[in-house]
Amino acid sequence: KANPNQPIYDLHNQAARIYHTVLTSTEAGEQARDYLYSRGITDAIIERFSIGLSLTDQDFLYQSVSQKFEESVLTNSGLITFAENRIFDSFRGRIMFPLKNEDGQVIAFSGRVWQADDIANKTLAKYKNSTTTPIFNKSEALYNIDQAKQSIKKNQEVYLMEGFLDVIAAYENGMTNAVASMGTALTEGHIRQLRRFTKKFILVYDGDRAGQGAIYKALDMLAADEVEIVRIPDGLDPDEYNKTYPNSLGDLMTNSRIVPVEFLMDYLRPENLSNLQSQLAFIELLAPKISAVRSLTAQDAYIKRLVEILPDFEYNQVESAVNKRRDDVSVN
Ligand code: UTP
Ligand code: MN
Ligand code: MN
Ligand code: MN
Ligand code: MN
Repeated sequence: KANPNQPIYDLHNQAARIYHTVLTSTEAGEQARDYLYSRGITDAIIERFSIGLSLTDQDFLYQSVSQKFEESVLTNSGLITFAENRIFDSFRGRIMFPLKNEDGQVIAFSGRVWQADDIANKTLAKYKNSTTTPIFNKSEALYNIDQAKQSIKKNQEVYLMEGFLDVIAAYENGMTNAVASMGTALTEGHIRQLRRFTKKFILVYDGDRAGQGAIYKALDMLAADEVEIVRIPDGLDPDEYNKTYPNSLGDLMTNSRIVPVEFLMDYLRPENLSNLQSQLAFIELLAPKISAVRSLTAQDAYIKRLVEILPDFEYNQVESAVNKRRDDVSVN
């Protein structure tokens, strides 16, 4: 039986083609293309990721599709807004990034401001995302899952990133198994989907405070999975890193990974480790993480590193805190 939502998919696919044509083949798209070029986005990338442009006109999309779709479809798609006395396109004047499902059907858009006045206008969100619709739930969608799926299976690992441009930067560096959530934190829905392809997750979040906080939260949700972390230096995000150090993002993502304990040792480290109490608390926090590490050699290395920063504790004291956890675990 036909999918009752098929017309909404069809409208999204058609809208994506229209936005793409506006960007690539019209004079109105020229300045937007220049914005993308200035960010290092090539024509090949514009094609590969089906990037587009919504015009600033009130109802360009509506005029282009209103003859072909029922009004209920236009309404339910969220792409057209029916207000009391006017009808207008929900996305206007933005560079359009389509989000697709695993089968490559367009299910939503995220639109970025790009004109100087819009960027300066703090009342406009930098990225505007599609609203929830019968085919789209923001907390489950993964940017680039359609193209990354095969590569995730083949490499048996997935890179999780924060932004679309980060996924694109990874792609340009040959890393084709990267996806991004849509400005939301990682959810159980994202993880459930990805676990069907791999049990290994590589977190490549922004190097700023927010990104580091997001890693900390993600680690909790991924406690049962194999996880590695790539920290982007200098507070940069992966895309900015790619611009600053051309052709090295792939190397960083492949060869500069750390494991969760190493991240936590740094992230959870209290400002002041001079008093006994704060050192004890830090040991209590990290001992279970270290005891959860499979390799005893790695455990030994982490204990040594911890001892280096604790003025009042010796190796065997930290080791016994870790071993106590080990014993606790084996009792369960
Ligand atoms: P960032 O602020 O790190 O943006 O937000 P970015 O990905 O680096 O974007 P560029 O490089 O400036 O273009 C990370 C993600 O959060 C979501 C987007 O999905 C973005 O990619 N976000 C951000 C929103 O949904 N709305 C916003 O207004 C800003
Ligand atoms: Mn094209
Ligand atoms: Mn950020
Ligand atoms: Mn960013
Ligand atoms: Mn960025």
